[in-house]
Amino acid sequence: MSAGFSKALSYATAPQSPKLVLAARDSPRFEAVAEIWEGLAVTTLVMPTDVGDPRACAEAVQSAFAKFSTIDVLVNNAGMLMWATVEDVQDVSRFQHLMNVHAKGSVYCTKLP
Ligand SMILES: NC(=O)c1ccc[n+]([C@@H]2O[C@H](COP(=O)([O-])OP(=O)(O)OC[C@H]3O[C@@H](n4cnc5c(N)ncnc54)[C@H](OP(=O)(O)O)[C@@H]3O)[C@@H](O)[C@H]2O)c1
Repeated sequence: MSAGFSKALSYATAPQSPKLVLAARDSPRFEAVAEIWEGLAVTTLVMPTDVGDPRACAEAVQSAFAKFSTIDVLVNNAGMLMWATVEDVQDVSRFQHLMNVHAKGSVYCTKLP
């Protein structure tokens, strides 16, 4: 997470003094979020992760267990919007990418390793 709902949700957990694993693709963006948390003395683990990649998901989950021993809450909220009609889309691989991130990404992070 580095933006949108999941970023807002992470801030909403502040009263519980969470230990956070931040996983997304755009490292500079989520490192900026991690800096805010570190400033509040919250322990964070930043994991560059594309949730459409099962190996990356497994690595993120394994790293989370290695650092924190447990995962109490997993937020599967990575995703993107696509503003186009089916007729307008020429490259069907866009749909494959969406399914990889939205559907498979949630399964990979939940079931792996
Ligand atoms: N906003 C709405 O009104 C709304 C309404 C209904 C449903 N949704 C859905 O809810 C989800 C989140 O929406 P949002 O508004 O919070 O979106 P957002 O502000 O664009 O944030 C999306 C987050 O997902 C991450 N992400 C995207 N692709 C990823 C990938 N392959 N691997 C890992 N992380 C990835 C992004 O980070 P990186 O780009 O750095 O990876 C970013 O942190 C989306 O699926 C969206 O379609 C949103």
